[in-house]
Amino acid sequence: MNVIVTKDYAEMSSAAAKIVSELIKNKPDCVLGLATGSTPEGMYAQLVQECKEGSLDFSAVRSVNLDEYYPIKPDNDQSYRYFMNDKLFNHVNIDKANTNVPNGMTENPEEEGARYDKIIANLGGIDLQILGIGQNGHIGFNEPDEELVSGTHLVDLTEDTIQVNSRFFASIDEVPKQALTMGIGSIFTARSIIIMASGKNKHDAISKLLSGKITTQCPATMLNLHPDVTVICDEGAYNG
Ligand code: F6R
Repeated sequence: MNVIVTKDYAEMSSAAAKIVSELIKNKPDCVLGLATGSTPEGMYAQLVQECKEGSLDFSAVRSVNLDEYYPIKPDNDQSYRYFMNDKLFNHVNIDKANTNVPNGMTENPEEEGARYDKIIANLGGIDLQILGIGQNGHIGFNEPDEELVSGTHLVDLTEDTIQVNSRFFASIDEVPKQALTMGIGSIFTARSIIIMASGKNKHDAISKLLSGKITTQCPATMLNLHPDVTVICDEGAYNG
């Protein structure tokens, strides 16, 4: 596992944006695995900037997002589809038809999971997956548990995650209790993975990841089994 420790959030964002933009330049039709949340926002802002300056071209890029709340309408401003449009897709020259987010309105989550994994397979797998990490060590919405699931599936969010994510909602009661998420196997179709973390509240999860031990109680530790993972974290997340 490569580890890059940056001074702060801004440097973490630049380091990640550089890797993404180099990939797009080398492989214009690359498949990006994308994450939502606070962590990648700065990275998306830099990619938007580069695209506006004309040095980055998203026209052939394809993307698959990690997860989506369930149930949620795509035009709800808390949906991850909305987040992606708002933070990235509306500001770069990506073809939205080439962007994929799990369908938070599906009537059949099981079918939706299978459909989503087929999309990933038909794209030939993911070139670069961007991950954040939950304070509880989740990646995507693969929550700590006795077992982890390989494919894209419906998951019950833990009380921890509902609490942490309530900061984006008017009240905790409005946070969806479930989500569709890529499973560990879906994430592992990625040829390379970047996991980003900023701030002391991520220290515990990052320490477990870097310990080299693997436990389903901290799903990010599964990344120790992947051959090409880069951890990009700031000093707060690294040192605590
Ligand atoms: C988001 C996702 C989550 C977040 C994690 C960290 O698509 O899959 O695993 O990456 O919850 O969230 P932030 O970045 O808001 O701290």
